[in-house]
Amino acid sequence: MQLDAVQSAAQEQFGKQSHRYGKGHILQNVDDVIAAASQMALPARAEVLDVATGAGHTGLYFAGLGHRVTLADIAQPMLDRVRETAAERGLQVTTRQHAAEQFPYAEASFDLVTCRVAPHHFSSPPDFIAEVARVLRPGGYFLLIDGSVFDDEPEAEAWLHQVEKLRDPSHNRLLSPRTWTQLCERSVLRVTSVELKEFKQPNLEWYFETANTPPDNRVAVRRLIETATDAVRRCCKVGVEEGKTVWWWPRLTLIARR
Ligand SMILES: C[S@@+](CC[C@H](N)C(=O)[O-])C[C@H]1O[C@@H](n2cnc3c(N)ncnc32)[C@H](O)[C@@H]1O
Repeated sequence: MQLDAVQSAAQEQFGKQSHRYGKGHILQNVDDVIAAASQMALPARAEVLDVATGAGHTGLYFAGLGHRVTLADIAQPMLDRVRETAAERGLQVTTRQHAAEQFPYAEASFDLVTCRVAPHHFSSPPDFIAEVARVLRPGGYFLLIDGSVFDDEPEAEAWLHQVEKLRDPSHNRLLSPRTWTQLCERSVLRVTSVELKEFKQPNLEWYFETANTPPDNRVAVRRLIETATDAVRRCCKVGVEEGKTVWWWPRLTLIARR
């Protein structure tokens, strides 16, 4: 697998941190996935691809419903964690190591492609979308859930970008709902639903630990929080609760069909 610098950074970062994304991680709660799935009419035994699966919370949810699921990630240790969890839960799944920008699957192979809380690491969202469109069957669904930014809020966007990049240097870019919609619609995907919801980041110090943020970067993030402008505070609701620094990310749920 030939990787560019952004992909290599993600592979290295998540390869080291794979043990932190399973039980106890805030992504273990898949209520967002369940809500989105309720808007889809999938075949009884759908072929599902979960891209950038991490510890597998999204793909394993669909495997638990009886679908045939392939869980893919750029970092092999994440896929090792997925296999352990699938075995614990008695689920049969396939794992594949590959980048989100180039898939090793034939055209029209899947009824559903999911990707949750990962595209902000991708080096090329347009290549990712082109691959999703290529491997979906006609009528197939694309579910994208990711941290996002509000359309037309450049100050909050720049702030969130700085915070995320300092916390985890493998972060690439949060895209707005409008940008994701345009990317889909430049391909053959038709967007059927776009929702921006607030998602609480409940504890800055826990968030540093999951990414093993370097000490100097932690200092820089705390400084960005102290000096956040009114526009940032309004968009991201930065605050302190019971001694913990919290903020709210805009989180995008987009559903599209091939
Ligand atoms: C936060 S985790 C994903 C969470 C998971 N989807 C869930 O629902 O719990 C981010 C994952 O994206 C993967 N990743 C980052 N960049 C990638 C890329 N370009 N191609 C494939 N996987 C990538 C990382 O290895 C990591 O496992």
